Amino acid sequence: MLVEVFNDYEEMSRRAARHVAAAIRQKPDLVLGLATGSTPVGLYRELVRLFRKGELDFSRVTTFNLDEYYGLSASHEQSYHYFMQEHLFRHVNVALERIHIPDGQATDIQAECARYEQLLAEAGWVDLQILGIGGNGHIGFNEPGTDFGASTHLIELAPATIQANARFFKSPEDVPRRAISMGIKTIMRSREIILLASGRDKAEAIRAAIEGPVTNQVPASVLQLHPNVRVMIDQAAAALLSHGGQGQTHAMTV
Ligand code: PGA
Repeated sequence: MLVEVFNDYEEMSRRAARHVAAAIRQKPDLVLGLATGSTPVGLYRELVRLFRKGELDFSRVTTFNLDEYYGLSASHEQSYHYFMQEHLFRHVNVALERIHIPDGQATDIQAECARYEQLLAEAGWVDLQILGIGGNGHIGFNEPGTDFGASTHLIELAPATIQANARFFKSPEDVPRRAISMGIKTIMRSREIILLASGRDKAEAIRAAIEGPVTNQVPASVLQLHPNVRVMIDQAAAALLSHGGQGQTHAMTV
């Protein structure tokens, strides 16, 4: 696991975007796994900037998002469909038919989960997956206690996640209680994973994920078992690592 610690959020975002851009240039038909939440917003902003400068072409890229709230329509302002349109898709030349996000309004959830896994399998699984991390160590919406063997499935959001995400809704009561998410097994099939984290609120989750035992109580700790993970974090998120978040930008292998 390569851990890269950057001075701040902006630098982390720029460097992550540079890495994604290089992957797309190397493999123009890249299968890119995407995350939502506040963490990757800077990364998407930077990718849009590179696209506008003519340095990036998404026309052959296929995307798969990690998750979607259950019960929200694609046009709901807090849906992840909406988020992706706003932050990335409407600004770049990704082909509509190559964008995939779980359908939060599917009536047959099992069929929807099976359909999503099938699409992933047909695409040859994800080449490069972007992940954020919850303060409780979740990845996608795989909450503590999650089954490491699970593929795409319906998830009950943890109370801590509902509380954390309430900032985007009018009140905590408005936060959906469930979501459809790629499972840990799906995520672990990705050929490469970038885990992003910024801010002191993520420091404990990052420490547990990287230096703690591999346990389903900290879903992100499963990444220790993956052969190709790049953790890209700012100093605040690295503050509790034994090598610390102090000093200049640096990298370490753990
Ligand atoms: P955040 O969410 O980027 O909004 O902090 C990350 C997550 O919950 O996975």
